[in-house]
Amino acid sequence: MYPDLNGKVAIVTGAGRPGGLGAAIARKLAEDGVKVMLHDLGTTKGAMAPGHGIGTNDDLEAVATELRALHPDIATYAADMRVEAEVEAMVAATVERFGRLDILVNNAGVGYLFGPFVEQTQEKWDTVLDVNLRGAFFAMKHAIRQMLTQDEQSGWGRGRVVSIGSRGSKSGSALTSSYIASKHGLVGLTRSVAIEMGPQQINVNMVCPNHVTTGLGAWQNEYMASMRGQTIEEYLEAMRGRIPLGRVGTPEDTANACAFLCSGQARYITGEAMNVSGGEEMH
Ligand SMILES: NC(=O)c1ccc[n+]([C@@H]2O[C@H](COP(=O)([O-])OP(=O)(O)OC[C@H]3O[C@@H](n4cnc5c(N)ncnc54)[C@H](O)[C@@H]3O)[C@@H](O)[C@H]2O)c1
Repeated sequence: MYPDLNGKVAIVTGAGRPGGLGAAIARKLAEDGVKVMLHDLGTTKGAMAPGHGIGTNDDLEAVATELRALHPDIATYAADMRVEAEVEAMVAATVERFGRLDILVNNAGVGYLFGPFVEQTQEKWDTVLDVNLRGAFFAMKHAIRQMLTQDEQSGWGRGRVVSIGSRGSKSGSALTSSYIASKHGLVGLTRSVAIEMGPQQINVNMVCPNHVTTGLGAWQNEYMASMRGQTIEEYLEAMRGRIPLGRVGTPEDTANACAFLCSGQARYITGEAMNVSGGEEMH
């Protein structure tokens, strides 16, 4: 528990999938008294946004209903991270509803357009980069613009940005080139914005989870196991064997790291891409 989070206002993007990382992050923040704008795409838009991997409006409302038992100030907003005007409007709607914006968690992501590198199409490449990297840029830009209008809070700062990277932010892997490129790009974006915003007392960090078997991860298990000719259990067993702490991650592992980075206890941490990987990734 981080008492200094009580009353803060956050946007958590991609939080509309029950069981996903975004819902867990929002739950953790709500437990600490944060007013949360839950965001997701809401509906499938375009050929490159397939039904699996998309938080619908119903999903978003289901997460909101669950979280309102923890905190009454939970709102929802549907926006396409690929469209700057929609992301800007989400920030404005958050300020209109809650009066300010203290925390942005960039969690929305596309991790399902995988495939052999030489078969990658520009359309798939663009979709992954447009959501994972360009969308994060849009959200950071408009959230930080708002934070810059607000006063610094003693012992806490002026604002926090936490973007959800991946083990793929630090290491490459087969069949996932666009995803890995987008998540590596997020590290460079985070470090650069952290340097620029340090004097403004806005901390900009990342959490880099390894494999989590809910949300995107459940689909990834099926895909990667089939590409390797393994059962899902064989695929997961091999993965556990590579992780020093002996298990795959949970959404709560990522949520705990996010809450810490949003708290006053992380006041002196910025530009960091924190691994939450059971020791699988160490740099
Ligand atoms: N699950 C894992 O194993 C894992 C591991 C490392 C990192 N991550 C990262 O964590 C984050 C959440 O992953 P998850 O596993 O909970 O997946 P998820 O699919 O449940 O959540 C991602 C959310 O992003 C939303 N989204 C996709 N395209 C969008 C768009 N154009 N506009 C707005 N929203 C859009 C989806 O609707 C979805 O709700 C992602 O950034 C992912 O890359 C996941």
